[in-house]
Amino acid sequence: MTSRVAIVTGGTRGIGKAIAVALKNAGHKVAANFAGNDEAAKAFSAETGIRAFKFDVGDFKSCQDGVGQIAKDLGPVEILVNNAGITRDGTMHKMSFEQWQAVIDTNLGSCFNMCRAVIDGMRQRGFGRIVNVGSVNGQAGQYGQVNYAAAKSGIHGFTKALAQEGAGKNITVNAIAPGYVDTDMVRAVPPPVLEKIIARIPVGRLGRAEDIARGVMFLVADDADFITGSTMSINGGQHMY
Ligand code: CAA
Repeated sequence: MTSRVAIVTGGTRGIGKAIAVALKNAGHKVAANFAGNDEAAKAFSAETGIRAFKFDVGDFKSCQDGVGQIAKDLGPVEILVNNAGITRDGTMHKMSFEQWQAVIDTNLGSCFNMCRAVIDGMRQRGFGRIVNVGSVNGQAGQYGQVNYAAAKSGIHGFTKALAQEGAGKNITVNAIAPGYVDTDMVRAVPPPVLEKIIARIPVGRLGRAEDIARGVMFLVADDADFITGSTMSINGGQHMY
């Protein structure tokens, strides 16, 4: 297997951490991006030996600089996993413009910012694997999440468009749509609401971060070059799409 340079955004906690660790265990050189939680990033690096790079994926210039730094330290980026995401839940009639904008910038704007920073190199070298982490809530909608559902749904369209552009250059672009996974983000859902959601998952449990990492590893493999523009739903059967 060829060892490749990989970036995982939001890679020091939750789903991103599991993806970063799986990539490292497969022999890749991994950079884990994070935005704010220095303590968690420090603990992550100490535990995994994976370097963490702090920059805001919602900001175009920060991504240019961050990816430049990673390329300098580890080499040209060949695998990009756009995983970073936030929630700012609230019903439409209570949602502020700031709640809307923050989620659009971080969850969807980040895909543009990061892909724009790596795409020229991938095109020149004739190899790239991009995986964008969407959500079941981008496929099905979710009460209290017009911002998040719009951003995640946008990711699925973004993926299909970029897949068409990358196809002739051996750059595959796929999405994973996780269901409810046992992470800090999902644990923040009010318990009575979460109980009802879990009751609607046929497999009968929340997902594990490793369940999502397994899908990423499948999609980034060198010989996954015929798989592009697809969405892999990993949701315990909650939504079959
Ligand atoms: N469908 C229909 N009605 C619903 C509902 C639903 N899913 N959820 C809540 N309601 C109703 C309530 O029953 C309540 O009705 P009454 O006033 O008649 O009693 C009304 O809406 C108001 O509900 P809340 O009291 O919960 O309203 P709130 O303003 O305090 O909170 C909320 C609203 C922030 C949306 C809260 O319900 C919430 O956090 N819901 C969870 C949203 C969610 O699932 N987020 C996912 C986060 S994890 C994630 O996003 C990861 C991923 O990709 C899967």
